[in-house]
Amino acid sequence: MHFFEYKDQELYCEDTNISEIAGKVKTPFYLYSHATLERHFRVFDEAFRGIDHITCFSMKSNSNGAILKLFSQAGGGVDIVSGGELYRALKAGMSPDKIVYSGVGKTAEEIEYALEADILMFNAESPQEIIRLNEVAGSIGKKARIAIRVNPDVDPQTHPYISTGLKENKFGIDINKSFDEYVKASKMDNIEVTGVSCHIGSQLTRVSPFVDALKKVKELIARLDDSGIKIKNLDLGGGLGVTYNDEKPPLPDEYAAALRENLGGMGLTLILEPGRVIMANSGILVAKVLYTKANEDKNFTVVDAAMNDLARPSLYGSYHSVKPVKMDSTDVINMDIVGPICESGDFLAKNREMASLKQGDLIAVMSAGAYGFAMSSTYNSRPRVAEVMVKGHKYYTIRERETYEDLVKGEIIPDFIK
Ligand SMILES: Cc1ncc(COP(=O)(O)O)c(C=O)c1O
Repeated sequence: MHFFEYKDQELYCEDTNISEIAGKVKTPFYLYSHATLERHFRVFDEAFRGIDHITCFSMKSNSNGAILKLFSQAGGGVDIVSGGELYRALKAGMSPDKIVYSGVGKTAEEIEYALEADILMFNAESPQEIIRLNEVAGSIGKKARIAIRVNPDVDPQTHPYISTGLKENKFGIDINKSFDEYVKASKMDNIEVTGVSCHIGSQLTRVSPFVDALKKVKELIARLDDSGIKIKNLDLGGGLGVTYNDEKPPLPDEYAAALRENLGGMGLTLILEPGRVIMANSGILVAKVLYTKANEDKNFTVVDAAMNDLARPSLYGSYHSVKPVKMDSTDVINMDIVGPICESGDFLAKNREMASLKQGDLIAVMSAGAYGFAMSSTYNSRPRVAEVMVKGHKYYTIRERETYEDLVKGEIIPDFIK
């Protein structure tokens, strides 16, 4: 459920007319609905009521400071994957004791930064990383609280690029080998073993892979407990899917109920790392039609947003529904909606049957709040777009559009070229 709806044939975000925002901030821009963000966070978090838990928003899906602050005020934490994300999270006022740090390639500098910040837990992804965590912590007189991110070899039945819990994926430590690594880690001077973590993939549309992974993790926790290694935090990652087109993913309540049933009073703090399920349908990308053209058997609508602004269609062949901001045409045609970038892979939608568009029309690329702006780049020297948030009938720019000066910031021409 979200708050992007037509009123009298015009698309609104909450009580604000999207065309009016476009007239002021220019296109393209990302637009987020405050009421949707708040609702999605609350519905997810409340699905786990009665269980000791922390909802650690996976900020790789969207790392805008205003959004992070909103979730932190709602009681959430974050799942981070880099020093840069830690910086943003702290800047947004996130409490360090609600920050968990995942990722296969944490550098010594990033580890030190996170230790100094005193985050809740590192999700260690390799035996060498545990050794590095121990060394860095020792060098600054600290203890690193860790979970081992285990790879349970469960098929999440999602796109191969966003599946992470299979043996062939680079993530985590094989669950069958993790026991020995726990024993080794528990003997290290500067490591405190506090958790087990597991994230099997993204955009999951069924609960069974989550449950299968949880069952395997439970067995590991029981075995660790028997050998005197007490686990306090169980991090089950993120991954709950959303509706982009006709998918019917479980609702947060159904997902939570399935986990609850299998947790069975383990007496642990549950950590959840949702990203997409909170963000995707809370945001859209608004763009303008520059040109329309047709060749022998294709209609092309060229818009001012491109794969650098929203990479998902080119990267994963992802589907995003595209809607006209004003419904003033009834003439349905088949078209490709493409951007100005010099790549045939630069498209936002392919073979889409929809009302024809004309020069100057605005479109809304729906479900773009997760992995949208966060994955954008300046490819083709296109400044990154603005981000705007609507609350009721007001809108607020939460990130300014980059300028041409921003594009060359930091570039240095050495003397011998001058
Ligand atoms: C470790 C980890 N946690 C959480 C997430 C968030 O996943 P999603 O956005 O599908 O909820 C990801 C994304 O891939 C991840 O790698």
